[in-house]
Amino acid sequence: MLPKDILLPSGGKAKATVIHVVTPQSWPAFRKTLSKEAQGWSAANGFAGESGRHLLLPDGKGGVAQVVAGIGTGADPFTLGKLARSLPQGMYELAGDVEDAYLAALGWCLEAYGFSAYGKTFAEPARLVCPETVDRADVLRAASAAWLTRDLVNTPASDMGPDQLERAARTVAAAHKAKVKVISGKALEQGFPMVHHVGKASASAPRLIDFSWGPQRAPKVTLVGKGVTFDTGGLDIKPASGMLLMKKDMGGAATVLGLAQMIMAAKLNVRLRVLIPVVENAIAGNAFRPGDVLKSRKGLTIEIGNTDAEGRLILGDALALADEEQPDLLVDMATLTGAARVALGPDLPPFYTDDDEAAAALGQAAARENDPLWRMPFWEPYMRLFESGIASMNNSGDSGFAGSITAALFLKRFVDKAKTYIHFDIFAWTPAAKPGRPRGAEAQGQRALFTMIRHRYGN
Ligand code: BES
Ligand code: MN
Ligand code: ZN
Repeated sequence: MLPKDILLPSGGKAKATVIHVVTPQSWPAFRKTLSKEAQGWSAANGFAGESGRHLLLPDGKGGVAQVVAGIGTGADPFTLGKLARSLPQGMYELAGDVEDAYLAALGWCLEAYGFSAYGKTFAEPARLVCPETVDRADVLRAASAAWLTRDLVNTPASDMGPDQLERAARTVAAAHKAKVKVISGKALEQGFPMVHHVGKASASAPRLIDFSWGPQRAPKVTLVGKGVTFDTGGLDIKPASGMLLMKKDMGGAATVLGLAQMIMAAKLNVRLRVLIPVVENAIAGNAFRPGDVLKSRKGLTIEIGNTDAEGRLILGDALALADEEQPDLLVDMATLTGAARVALGPDLPPFYTDDDEAAAALGQAAARENDPLWRMPFWEPYMRLFESGIASMNNSGDSGFAGSITAALFLKRFVDKAKTYIHFDIFAWTPAAKPGRPRGAEAQGQRALFTMIRHRYGN
């Protein structure tokens, strides 16, 4: 099933069961409009319109007459979406106190996702008739992108290595006739030495994916995504607990691919470019080592303090390429640091930019889309933590302080010409299910960025 089979067009002929949405405040009055049997039934169930609770009202003939669902002030706007997996199969429509029909419909489609490629089975979700005030295409575009991103991240590294990630990027590009270039081998070694050295120990070769779409004269928007298909940490190997989830280290690439799909499907007035450096950070005799000094595309030399700080290396070369054509907006998304999680937890990814207007627009878009984000600072004085005795800089620094900020500053060294630069340090994962966010892969920042780009450049 796809989002389009779950969120049905309004105005269809088939009869849908009504979900009447109430608050604890509106419930007593609504209850009085119900039949005596239904009033008794709701009392017998102790239903009081509590947020997140729902009740099936019988029709006296063994069927369901309607559903009442409670929602409270300050509840997660995706709360109603939970009904996609808690109601019996069938077709439903929303009525009553629906505060934000767009987020209810979106939450429904996001909740309905299930990753079944490896044998776990899911019951069919309930279907929802798209509320008339909601643009169904907007919801389907966002949900389809999130599903794509989740599928890519949830897929084990054994089936989502560099080859498969390249194939996924080609599929997204081909669907909208974007022009694709993939750089590998000698050309990669010469033009993108850090991508080459991080990826060379893997049985599957490193590469840089580069695709472009849209008119040359339109504002240039370039998206860069961290594509580490598995992060062992390299020779500075991660402990078991730290390595367990590292199939998701291509979460930035997957999120950027979903976002690119949204931008192309909505035909935004931009010249889109997507750059994905793809590597597996593996361990072998030819792996790059602590103490090695790498040359970067930009000419800076980088002393390797820790082979586990690999994301910033491959992104540095990709950002340098992106920056060469002076894009109007340059964005990177990356599962870059554990420190971002220490600072803000798994649900609230930080972003970094010096453009106050873009930051404000992102904050608004994040709220509108229920896609939370938090701005953190490019705090330049911390750049001293990257001092190297023999090279332009070190890739890790040894203080352990401000890990997400210092990683962001490291990336910024590779960007000079872009008009606006924004870096996202995402987690790409939901450790415990929440409404509209099943446990597992998540497309963080995707809808907020889309909405911000759409408002900034229009379509
Ligand atoms: N991919 C990891 C960061 C990560 C870890 C993201 C856990 C999400 C969850 C990254 O490549 C990494 O290993 N970063 C190191 C950097 C350190 C060695 C300077 C980190 O954050 O510990
Ligand atoms: Mn790492
Ligand atoms: Zn990594």
